[in-house]
Amino acid sequence: MAELTLPKNSKVQKQGKHYPVQNPKGAVRTFKVYRWDPDQDARPRVDSYEIDTGSCGPMVLDGLLKIKNEIDPTLAFRRSCREGVCGSCAMNIEGTNTLACTCSMASLGSGEVRVFPLPHMPVVKDLVPDLTHFFAQYASIKPWLRSQSPAPSGERLQSKEDRKKLDGLYECILCACCSTACPSYWWNGDRYLGPAILLQAYRWLADSRDEDTGARLDELEDPFKLYRCHTIMNCTRTCPKGLNPAKAIAEIKKLMVARRGL
Ligand code: SF4
Ligand code: SF4
Ligand code: FES
Repeated sequence: MAELTLPKNSKVQKQGKHYPVQNPKGAVRTFKVYRWDPDQDARPRVDSYEIDTGSCGPMVLDGLLKIKNEIDPTLAFRRSCREGVCGSCAMNIEGTNTLACTCSMASLGSGEVRVFPLPHMPVVKDLVPDLTHFFAQYASIKPWLRSQSPAPSGERLQSKEDRKKLDGLYECILCACCSTACPSYWWNGDRYLGPAILLQAYRWLADSRDEDTGARLDELEDPFKLYRCHTIMNCTRTCPKGLNPAKAIAEIKKLMVARRGL
């Protein structure tokens, strides 16, 4: 049986800090937030913050901003667009990887809101995961149009039907929710590309204007990069944009089979 041990000092210590609310105007919601500071020689803890929902926006990101602005400025997390388009506020909320800016507190019932960083990634600080390796994997698929033919004088055109083949792919915001929900990526993330990067790889394979299909498939033909997907489907279940990375992976496998003439 596999024996798994957590890295030294990574177990959450029992007692976190508690920040009570004073004179709330509305219902009180408690956020339980993972805290870890690399500059302190201490194990991670979970702090609880009571939020007055009567003076706070409706989304989990609004709650985190209220904590940072009014209660505890030391809390670290990423965010930018607050519209579900930049992908930077991805985190684990109540056990699900999702975007804090599009996840409403109301959708989580009326109890505590537990907020953790994306799972199985190194943590930079608090809710900020280290995505260096994830984006290096993205760069490895050469995510740009690769053509052999001379550039036309105008744009490289595409029929409406061919453009439609990119639907469900181009919308990916590289938030990493899917990859960090994938058990195969947890165990083999050093070599397995994971659902987000493979969906992006298929985005270029599916593009009628790209002329490097053979080389792209050669680059993916590897026991780890592609074939560690075991169709567990966590990726598709968790994608906050409603995309289907597992299907994109299956399409790549079909292209592999087709070119072998099987
Ligand atoms: S497929 Fe969905 S979950 Fe995965 S990176 Fe793209 S948007 Fe995020
Ligand atoms: S379907 Fe494949 S990529 Fe998606 S969670 Fe399962 S193993 Fe990971
Ligand atoms: S802040 Fe951009 S996706 Fe949430």
